[in-house]
Amino acid sequence: VVPDGDGQLHSMSDLYHRATHAQWDAEADIAWDHALNPDNPLAMPDATIPIAADPIWGRMDDRQKAELRRNLQGWHISQILHGERASLLCAGKLVLSAEDPAVKAAATMQAVDEVRHIDVYTRLVDKIGTPYPVSPSLDRLICDVLSDSDSDLAALGMQILIEGLALAFFKSLQMYSNDPLVKQLQSLVVRDEARHFAAGQLYLAHRHRALDEAELARREEFVCDAFALLDKYLYADEIWEPAGLSQRECAGLSRSSEQSAIMHRVLFRQLVPAVRAIGLLRDKTRAAFEGMGILDYANFPV
Ligand SMILES: [Fe+2]
Ligand SMILES: [Fe+2]
Repeated sequence: VVPDGDGQLHSMSDLYHRATHAQWDAEADIAWDHALNPDNPLAMPDATIPIAADPIWGRMDDRQKAELRRNLQGWHISQILHGERASLLCAGKLVLSAEDPAVKAAATMQAVDEVRHIDVYTRLVDKIGTPYPVSPSLDRLICDVLSDSDSDLAALGMQILIEGLALAFFKSLQMYSNDPLVKQLQSLVVRDEARHFAAGQLYLAHRHRALDEAELARREEFVCDAFALLDKYLYADEIWEPAGLSQRECAGLSRSSEQSAIMHRVLFRQLVPAVRAIGLLRDKTRAAFEGMGILDYANFPV
């Protein structure tokens, strides 16, 4: 067993039972009639915008600032939606392939949760009004995860890396958003995702103990490649031109911004302890994490 989001210990079948008791309804349990602020749909402070500390932001008028907020927020929630769709496919893969009935049951409940999340984020993207296609780095990661015939790798990619990415972003939304609808739906979704993240760790920690050296090395390689993609994903490079700004200039600014550094810390603080918990903190991952400046997180609790 590993700790879940509440810091308590739960076995896989406990997670399944908890999931059955924690079901909620996307239509009935969220106040969808609430109108979002068109100039700042997620009600986020401007300090969370990667270029907000640069003089370029000060030169923008209110209309341009609102346009950038809509694009940035629409991009983030669209990526979450693409991740949710991929999570449903991975959960389905695990339902089909798992031999342990408790793993099958937990994955089935996860599939139900992911259908609900797709519903919720489809509605939220519609309300924001600036949908985005899947970003190139997230697309690569999702394709790598889904195309692999090994269902353990699907679970590693999805339940640890993509769920971890989503949880890190959700934490910042919960911390900063001032909108009651966003807060309400996030608190419901995060409860589900914390269960998925815990189930992924339980399942993989167990599976990895039975693997030989070559199979473990392949997973280590997969984690290193995925971390490099996630590192790139953090910079929402696609939003600048639609918001009327120079892509080249803003992509550069966002890479050196304090805001991106904070997101980087939140993301890898979430992922590195999980990699350790599933037995994949080994020579190659250790060296890669050291190179990215994130190895210290390995000592943190999950
Ligand atoms: Fe989800
Ligand atoms: Fe999930």
